[in-house]
Amino acid sequence: MYAATPDNRPRGPVNVHTLHRMKREGEKIAALTAYDYTFAALEDAAGVDVMLVGDSLGMVVQGRDSTLPVTVEEIVYHCRCVAAGRHRALIMADMPFMSHGTLEQGLANAGLLMKQGGAHMVKVEGAADQARLIAAMASAGVPVCAHLGLRPQSVHKLGGYRVQGKDEKSAKIMIDDAVVLEEAGADMLLLECVPAALAERISTHARIPVIGIGAGSGCDGQILVVQDMLGITQGKTPKFAHDFMPGQDSVASAVEAYVVAVKSGGFPAAEHCF
Ligand code: KIV
Repeated sequence: MYAATPDNRPRGPVNVHTLHRMKREGEKIAALTAYDYTFAALEDAAGVDVMLVGDSLGMVVQGRDSTLPVTVEEIVYHCRCVAAGRHRALIMADMPFMSHGTLEQGLANAGLLMKQGGAHMVKVEGAADQARLIAAMASAGVPVCAHLGLRPQSVHKLGGYRVQGKDEKSAKIMIDDAVVLEEAGADMLLLECVPAALAERISTHARIPVIGIGAGSGCDGQILVVQDMLGITQGKTPKFAHDFMPGQDSVASAVEAYVVAVKSGGFPAAEHCF
């Protein structure tokens, strides 16, 4: 059985149309990273709509100091593990750093994530410069989420993990990028570490769903790294994260509490926003 909606409507597998309908109907999208079978099964049963096999696995699974070393083969491997535990949620897979230097390379690697990994959507970090790739993916039948704002793969170029779009000029560029990427064929946008007011403006104008991480409550959905959500991150936890474990007696109930908080608009609160 699929998890039920709050009004007990049966829920089928999540696809791009489901996500678009959720945006239209104002139902918040609850997304979480997943890297293995056990967590995928647990998140799926808790009602998570989108499971991201993120290149954050380089940091939280492999213990590296950035996402840059993660390979396509590693994402494919973790995608397969997640696909084994998936029943309903849409599986989104990250295109790793330098996996789409050319259109041909990008299309071939997106193909591997979908054909070998079982992903239903790929995520591309990048701004308007990725419009050609996203258009090519769209015409090849690859659903794409474009990742704007803080792009961890560009950490060395950005000079650190900083909030993006804080001044008028960079905010305007991000608004324009979002329009270009939607027009190119992106099916979803992800905004990371963006001032809440800017993220709300982008979400309101976009026809496609916008999910945020550190981007305020005005987005159409939220995503967190699962370790941040369970309070087990090694080292510093980001300001936008929240530990849902206190008060819960199991990991499954903490994930359920996260889904409820996202759907009800209770998360993120003001203290998680920029
Ligand atoms: O790789 C990842 O987990 C991500 C999230 C931070 C959204 O891109």
